[in-house]
Amino acid sequence: MIDRDVISRILHAGVQAPSGDNSQPWSFKIDGDAIIVLCHPQMDHPVLNVDARGTYLATGALIENMVIAARHEGLDASVRYFERDGETARMVLSYGSEKGHHLYPAIANRHTHRGAYETPLDASSLELLTVETEEHCRMTLITKPAAIRRIAEASTLMEETALSIKKLHYLFFKSLLWSVRENESGTPGLFIKTTELPAPVQGMFRVIRHWPLMRIFHVLGLPKAAAKSNAEVYASSGAIAALFVTRTEPQDFIAAGRCMQRIWLSATHAGLSAQPLAGLIYLAEYVARTDDQEIGAELKQRIRAARKVLSDTTEERGDTMAMMLRIGIPKQHASSRSKRRPPVIL
Ligand SMILES: Cc1cc2nc3c(=O)[nH]c(=O)nc-3n(C[C@H](O)[C@H](O)[C@H](O)COP(=O)(O)O)c2cc1C
Repeated sequence: MIDRDVISRILHAGVQAPSGDNSQPWSFKIDGDAIIVLCHPQMDHPVLNVDARGTYLATGALIENMVIAARHEGLDASVRYFERDGETARMVLSYGSEKGHHLYPAIANRHTHRGAYETPLDASSLELLTVETEEHCRMTLITKPAAIRRIAEASTLMEETALSIKKLHYLFFKSLLWSVRENESGTPGLFIKTTELPAPVQGMFRVIRHWPLMRIFHVLGLPKAAAKSNAEVYASSGAIAALFVTRTEPQDFIAAGRCMQRIWLSATHAGLSAQPLAGLIYLAEYVARTDDQEIGAELKQRIRAARKVLSDTTEERGDTMAMMLRIGIPKQHASSRSKRRPPVIL
């Protein structure tokens, strides 16, 4: 029987994984030497989570952390997906591996850095980012500054839309945590300080979280200005890793999440920072699947066109983009980190 303290350490490493808006959409059951992962798509953004893909990506990152933590403890972890009703994954632990994993320290150090980066990255860093992928998953590393800029400018249509459409505005501000106390307690949500926005802009966010006031700033052109300024930040990236799935089963998005985490931990290990750019991918998927009247025809057309830029620039071909991760040398340390609640064991 595996020591319960060891299982607890594996779970604590697992939940350091990224999740959309830090939703932490998971809980666990322990069954002998098996850890059962249950994921909860209802904890994620109801628009930007088509077919629970964002939830599965986050769950993949969680599982990757747990596999690495198990190796660190000298354990083998065999993972099976959707084997029994209600279970997302079942990880069976056994004694076996040699103790240690070079990426283990990166689990605690990894975080989303939304500030500007230095360009470019040297060849050895780029080589470290070219990780082994999972079945039904492939990655492309975009390094040409012109291509990175095209992706940066297209992606920030997400920010413009989030500040222009009432429902998306509501959901964005609902996900924000405003106080250090809330963040420290590990409450699911995105801590405002992790946006890396200048302090006066963070102050302005307190005003524009009220839709009638947002509408005034909309007339003044704030959504477009915010998108433009973020595009400059994204364009400062040294590389963008684009991850694709060659099938679209839930398990394939978990596999993509494992790859994302492998890249992200490798980047952290090499002293690099990263930020997912997932919003536009999932906004475009939502627009393609629904007839949401709140999003006007012209905006829908712009979303489709921006999504095509991502597709063309990353050479998506017939596959399905699951995630983009921008990577680079940070100009400054991140000013804050999103915290986690302890693992929820049912
Ligand atoms: C599926 C997924 C999508 C995400 N999309 C974005 C995104 O579009 N923009 C962004 O800044 N962060 C994005 N993130 C990062 C999360 O907001 C971040 O992981 C979470 O707030 C926890 O913070 P941490 O990564 O610093 O631990 C995404 C993460 C996941 C797993």
